[in-house]
Amino acid sequence: MSDEARPGPTVMTIFGAGGDLAWRKLIPALYDLFLDGWLPERFAVVGVDRVKMDLDPFRQRLRDGVDRFSRRGQSDEEAWNRFASHLVCFLSADLARPEGYAALADRIAALEKEWGDEAGLLLYLALPPAAIQTVTEQLGRARLARDRARARIVVEKPFGHDLASARDLNRLLTHTFDESQIYRIDHYLGKETVQNILAFRFANALFEPIWDRRYIDHVQITVAEQVGVEHRGAYYDHAGALRDMIQNHLLQILSLIAMEPPVSFLADEIRNKKLDVLRAIRPIPREELHRFAVRGQYGAGWIEGKRVPAYRDEPGVASDSTTETFAALKLFIDNWRWQDIPFYLRTGKRLPIRASEAQIRFRPVPHQSFPDTAFAEWQTNRLILRIQPEEGILLRFQAKRPGPTMRLSPVEMRFTYREAFKATSPEAYETLLLDVMRGDATLFMRADQVEAAWSIVTPILEAWESVAPIGFPNYPAGSWGPEAAGALIAQDGQSWLQPTLPED
Ligand code: BG6
Repeated sequence: MSDEARPGPTVMTIFGAGGDLAWRKLIPALYDLFLDGWLPERFAVVGVDRVKMDLDPFRQRLRDGVDRFSRRGQSDEEAWNRFASHLVCFLSADLARPEGYAALADRIAALEKEWGDEAGLLLYLALPPAAIQTVTEQLGRARLARDRARARIVVEKPFGHDLASARDLNRLLTHTFDESQIYRIDHYLGKETVQNILAFRFANALFEPIWDRRYIDHVQITVAEQVGVEHRGAYYDHAGALRDMIQNHLLQILSLIAMEPPVSFLADEIRNKKLDVLRAIRPIPREELHRFAVRGQYGAGWIEGKRVPAYRDEPGVASDSTTETFAALKLFIDNWRWQDIPFYLRTGKRLPIRASEAQIRFRPVPHQSFPDTAFAEWQTNRLILRIQPEEGILLRFQAKRPGPTMRLSPVEMRFTYREAFKATSPEAYETLLLDVMRGDATLFMRADQVEAAWSIVTPILEAWESVAPIGFPNYPAGSWGPEAAGALIAQDGQSWLQPTLPED
C-alpha cells in the first residue's frame, strides 16, 4: 500500500463510544482497515461517553464487537493487541459540561506532541439526535472545531424528522462547523455495489447512450428486509419506512441511476449532479396521493418457517401504532432524460427475503418480426443492479432456444463480485471512515441534498399523518407487502419484478 493513499495522522474521537454503533460497526470497520494497512501509523481512538468505564473493559467490549461483526470473523490475538494499542483512552464525561471537552483537547495535544505532528481530528457523533446540539456547541466552545482543514464532524442519520427539523439541524451544525467539515453518513453510499452504479454507467460506453426515456420503460428500486424492528422499536415507531429508508437510502440509489454524467470525480461535482435529480422530482399532488404512495404495516406471520410477531407487538412499539413498516412510491423526474418515466420505489420490513436491487426495464422492441409461436416466453430486456446480497449485475435478453424452430427464451448474462474479484468487499463503514480521514466527501450527504430529499417526502408524511391508515396491519410478515403496493404499479400495466434470489 502506498503511503499516499493513507490518511495522515488522525485522532478519532467517538462520542457515545459505549454504545451500539461503536461496538457493532465503527470498531470492526477500523479493525479491518487496520489489517488491510489503510490506517496511518499515527492513529488514535479516544472514546467519550457518559458511562463510566476503564480502558481495559472498553477495549474488551470492542474486541467482542470485532469478533462478532468484523467481516474477517474472530480476531487474532497478536493482531488485536497491535490494533488495541491505538485505542488510547476512554473518557467518562458529562457531554453537557465543558470539563470532558477540555480533557479531550489536552489528550489530543499530548498525542500531537508525542507524534511531533498535527493530527486530523475526526469527531464522530455516535449519539441520538437529541444530543447533537449540546455536543456541537461544546466542541465549538472548546475550540475543537476551529481548524477547518483538520477538524471533521461525522453525523449519523436521522438528519431531522422532516424538512423543518433538517433545516434546523443543518443551521445548528453550520453555526459551529463549516459545511466542508460536516460528513453526514448514509451508509448505503459506502456499499461497493452502490458506488459501482457510477462505474457501470460512466466507465462504459455501452449503456449510457440508451440510458433515457427513449429506451427505458421504467425503473424499480426495491430494498427488502426480512428483519423486523429488532431492538429499535422506540426509535422506529417515530420514524417509519419513509423516513428510515426512502428519504435517504432509496432516494440516493435513485439519484445515482438518474443523474447526468459528472464532468469530474470531484465530490461537489458528483453531489451537484445528484442534487439536480432530487430537485427535479415532481411533487405528488395531495389529492392524488393514493395513486403515488402506499403504506403498510406488518401483522404476525412466518419468516423462513418461524412464527414472528406483529409490528404492534414488538418491544417499544405502541399497541395501536400507525407507523408504516412498508412504503412504496411512484416518482417522476421532470427533465429531458426522464420525462414521464416512472421510478417505482418500495421498501419494507418482514418481507420474504433480504434483497436490495434496482431493475431497469427497457422498452419492447419496436416491431416483432418473429412468428407468434416464437415469443411465448418473450420478455423485455432488463438490467438488474444487485446491491445485496450476492452483489452483481444481471442483464436479461432473448435468445433462440436450440431446436429446429424459432423459439425465443429469456437468458441472463451475469457478473458477480464473488466470481469476478474473488475477494470480500469492504463493509460500507470501512469505506466511509477512510474517506472522512482522507477528507473526501463524495459519498456523504451535503446539507442541500438532505433538504431536497426531505422536500420530497415531507408532504407525503404530512398527508399520511393527517389521515389514520385504514386496515393496519395490512400485510402478514413474510409477504411482499400490502395489496395496494401491487395496485400502485398495476395501474400502469406493470408488476413488481421480484428480486432474484441468490444462486443456490
Ligand atoms: C438503516 C435503517 O439505515 O438501514 C434500518 O435505519 C435498516 O432500519 C438498515 O435495517 C438497512 O441497512 P442494510 O445495510 O442492512 O441494508
